[in-house]
Amino acid sequence: MASTLLRTTPALRAGLRASAARPAAAAIASTTFVRGKATLPDLPYDYGALEPYISGKIMELHHSKHHQTYVNGFNSAVEAVAEAKAKGDSAAAAAQAPLLNFHGGGHLNHSLFWENLAPHGKGGGGEPEGKLLLWDKITPEAHTTTQTAINKDFGSFETLQKQANTALAGIQGSGWAWLVKDKTSGTLGLVTRANQDPVTGNLEPLLGVDAWEHAYYLQYENRKAEYFSAIWDVINWSTVAKRFEK
Ligand SMILES: [Fe+2]
Repeated sequence: MASTLLRTTPALRAGLRASAARPAAAAIASTTFVRGKATLPDLPYDYGALEPYISGKIMELHHSKHHQTYVNGFNSAVEAVAEAKAKGDSAAAAAQAPLLNFHGGGHLNHSLFWENLAPHGKGGGGEPEGKLLLWDKITPEAHTTTQTAINKDFGSFETLQKQANTALAGIQGSGWAWLVKDKTSGTLGLVTRANQDPVTGNLEPLLGVDAWEHAYYLQYENRKAEYFSAIWDVINWSTVAKRFEK
């Protein structure tokens, strides 16, 4: 899923390898690349479908303007790297690393975010089920092979929500909070990332919440805690579960 969201060129890969790229950019380079430019993904629901939890106006601006800007910025940075490579200018290629990280991360994060949401009562809200939530609700056979779940790693779903909201509230400036899975241990955890830094390395992003003001301000103004509380009503746990079980 996420591995197919970023599309770039061999020149970018070469540029990134040559540029001693920052960790996030290196992670972008490690994804599966497809020739061609990054494009804005369609939403799997209408802009107004998440109301009243997230207004249609916010969704329209967030998707068609903000996300499109990250797509455009990423493609421009990729082109700049290609041009620098053609000129043999490794310094110019390396100078694009912050832009690749910011716009590439913005494209990746938002692509994951849209899939993390669904209209309330139509795939959105409620509680996670199955292996993701309760190891004691599944078969004993599966129990022995299921090492992680929300109840095991957080104590309860309510505790996860509380800790996530605390993490979101603690973000200074712009950033994201993510429910992640450690790829080695399978353990769940919560992490925050500043700006558009993507979740990389040994962590698999399962669920991200955008804490940028553009994600809520038109509707919630300075009451961002209300946005963090409301978004649970439109979380698509099916998507989270699929990423968890991948
Ligand atoms: Fe955003």
